[in-house]
Amino acid sequence: MLPKLSTGIPGPQSLELSEKLKLYECRNVTYTADDWPVFWQRAEGVNVWDADGNRFLDLTSAFGVAGLGHGWSAGAMREQSEQLIHGMGDVHPTALKVDVCQRLSALTYERWGAGVGKAILSNSGSEAVESALKSAYIATGKPGVVSFKNSYHGLGYGALLGSGMEKFRQPFESQLPALRKVLDFPSEGVDSLAKLVIQLNGLDPSELGALIVEPIQGRAGKVIPPDGFLGILRSWCDVSGVVLIFDEIYTGFNRTGKLFACEWESVVPDIICLGKAMSGGYPISACVGKAEVMDAWPESEGEALHTSTFLGNPVGCAMACVSLDEHALEDVRVRVSKTGEKIKQELEKLDHALIHEVRGRGLMIGVELRHEDGAPAGDVAGAVLSDMLRRGIIMLADGEHGNVLAFTPPFNLGEEEIEFIIHQVRNAINSAVYQLAEK
Ligand SMILES: Cc1ncc(COP(=O)(O)O)c(C=O)c1O
Repeated sequence: MLPKLSTGIPGPQSLELSEKLKLYECRNVTYTADDWPVFWQRAEGVNVWDADGNRFLDLTSAFGVAGLGHGWSAGAMREQSEQLIHGMGDVHPTALKVDVCQRLSALTYERWGAGVGKAILSNSGSEAVESALKSAYIATGKPGVVSFKNSYHGLGYGALLGSGMEKFRQPFESQLPALRKVLDFPSEGVDSLAKLVIQLNGLDPSELGALIVEPIQGRAGKVIPPDGFLGILRSWCDVSGVVLIFDEIYTGFNRTGKLFACEWESVVPDIICLGKAMSGGYPISACVGKAEVMDAWPESEGEALHTSTFLGNPVGCAMACVSLDEHALEDVRVRVSKTGEKIKQELEKLDHALIHEVRGRGLMIGVELRHEDGAPAGDVAGAVLSDMLRRGIIMLADGEHGNVLAFTPPFNLGEEEIEFIIHQVRNAINSAVYQLAEK
């Protein structure tokens, strides 16, 4: 449904809640200003309603979680919550945990013809990355981590080991071990791949146990590497005895038009990290690896070396089961590819002087804004976001300079909604330019 607004944005309830939240929440967490945020109350499909009763269109899938649409797995949640909402994941598990692990294996390593995949479940993307980094260390005995500039793997201390975003890492640098190598993420043609090969060949792998990479960088601004990138990493890891980890927390579950983004290059990682859309809304994530890597962990003798209170939570597992079954369907991929192509084409037609590039795969699309002199137009993007909110569209911007408008909607966005969004984006960019010129 198209947006329907009945108050100024943010409305009075949202503004009041902002003031209250500021009193009680650490000030680093939620950004509040006169024009931001709106407080969510309800969501369904592609729509979100706020505390003032305004209806919005969601272009974010709430950080990429609601690919199948908001509320898609709510039925499974309701049903499961009447039976058992919490168990003892690593002590007395549920049948649902078995079902989820089996499905994860079937959708990944078994589907790729690489044997059984073995999982460690967890609650957030960051934790899945930490399970993967620990697994790589256990399997290789080598502590070093190779990652890529501007990569985002979550903000836990372990996940920061692989972070290529200095702004998140730097404040905690003194608590993080130094053994890491950060490479340039190749974004422009074969030259950047040649540069990557030189960088890889310059590394001494004797202390490096893991290489972690997003097959398409999400928060860095929907950056798509040239074809051949993942294959180069696979070969280098094979000869160097390094565990190849694909962080598909964002790109996974059909977001890019394939079930997993690594399938664009048919490259199989040693470990894949999954989260976000895995359940459609419940905090559940997974590190799934080839049996020969994961079996490096010692068998549990009653005290798991790596677990947590909510591991394999039954409600999350029930939601994940129905979501995984749906994501296995070819129809979902067809819908994502078709809708993504349509949005991309319409965005390309905008042909605005500030639009430097429209890029993306499936429904992971970025519109990079740059000023005439080539400088990243993060200022324009910021103004566009709050203007779009006032037009009833919830969106975010990505990239090191916040200058990449992100289009990652739920998959069931309709024609009329797309037309509306494109029209509003054009107007919002124009109005942002005008506003900034006035200042
Ligand atoms: C590629 C990638 N990895 C890891 C994470 C961290 O996930 P979480 O925020 O659930 O810890 C994110 C979150 O945006 C992500 O995009």
